[in-house]
Amino acid sequence: MKKSAIHEMTRLSKEIEDVAFLSWAKPTSDTPEHIKAAAIKAIKEGLVSGYSTSSGLVELRQEIAKKLRRDNNVESNISQLIVTVGAIEGLSAAIFAILDSGDEVILPSPTYSTHIQQVRIASGKPILVPLLEEEDFALDIEGIRKAISPKTKALIYCSPSNPTGTAFSEKQLRQLADVALENNLMVITDEAYEYFVYDGHKHFSIASIPEMQEKAISCYTFTKTYAMTGWRIGYLHADEQLIPHITKTHIPLTICAPVVSQYAALAALKGSQDCVKEFRKHYLSARDLMCKRLDNLDSIFNYVKPSGSYLMFPKILGKEGKDSTAFCKKMLKEAKVSTTPGIAFGPTGESHLRLSFCVPEEEINKAFDRMETYFT
Ligand SMILES: Cc1ncc(COP(=O)(O)O)c(C=O)c1O
Repeated sequence: MKKSAIHEMTRLSKEIEDVAFLSWAKPTSDTPEHIKAAAIKAIKEGLVSGYSTSSGLVELRQEIAKKLRRDNNVESNISQLIVTVGAIEGLSAAIFAILDSGDEVILPSPTYSTHIQQVRIASGKPILVPLLEEEDFALDIEGIRKAISPKTKALIYCSPSNPTGTAFSEKQLRQLADVALENNLMVITDEAYEYFVYDGHKHFSIASIPEMQEKAISCYTFTKTYAMTGWRIGYLHADEQLIPHITKTHIPLTICAPVVSQYAALAALKGSQDCVKEFRKHYLSARDLMCKRLDNLDSIFNYVKPSGSYLMFPKILGKEGKDSTAFCKKMLKEAKVSTTPGIAFGPTGESHLRLSFCVPEEEINKAFDRMETYFT
């Protein structure tokens, strides 16, 4: 497997002094105080030195079930939930549990490169179906249908999407569910950015469609919602019949999610959700600023305004765009602006770069001031 281009750009960026950094999809805010305080309390009370059950603390899963009902329109009981080490471990456990060697998995592309690698590690074959950039990076439902073969086992998508920032519409996700049901496919979702949707778009969970009960494995995380990247805590929801199979891969991956982080996650769900509203407000304003600044560079980039996440995926115009890695490395060296080459998200990502707006607005202005000087 190739080295991650995201980590490679980070390594190169560290060699440059005073770089303007738009490369990481990682919240720059600190975890809210009440969440940190709950973790400290759990440590002091001696609650965190042992393992929890492999599927996670009962009280936490009860709160997750409430959240799924309230915010995702998904009915569940605690035996349908596994607390995981971030969304990443949930996705790994799900993918490893359902794939046999040689199984094909369809991924709308460009997509989060980790999903592609997870399929490869499970000896599966990723089948990339391009998103429709001219339709604001919508799913190509007909293209997905055509890509299905007797070996297809599953579909994996993230919505809102990393890297394109698209929140796929309910209408399209219902069409995708129909395709999955007609062809007996599993659908694995990555809903890491579920709370960050803008302009009246709504996040839709495919597991809320009753017919998808046995077919959907949905992965969620505290990482983005509560700025808890380093706590490594998330969860997955699946049909009760699937949970024992996923547990067989979850245990060798991790035994259980870190218990101190489970207490922190419990506080995140039980406490005020104002912090999430604040993060969303900040990302929305940062998105608008980034779009405005990109408008001044319209001879260099074309872009689709993201409807979700805190990422966008402008197209590099002209012949410079042919090699996004060379473009990003040159811009890093000569303009001291760190971005991620689109090729990192699959071949359909070539000629693009991913920009992250989960940074302070000064960082966006610093990066774009430099880009304007560099390109004009
Ligand atoms: C789409 C997507 N899924 C998952 C993750 C990582 O999630 P976690 O920290 O919960 O493992 C990221 C991080 O950038 C992401 O962009």
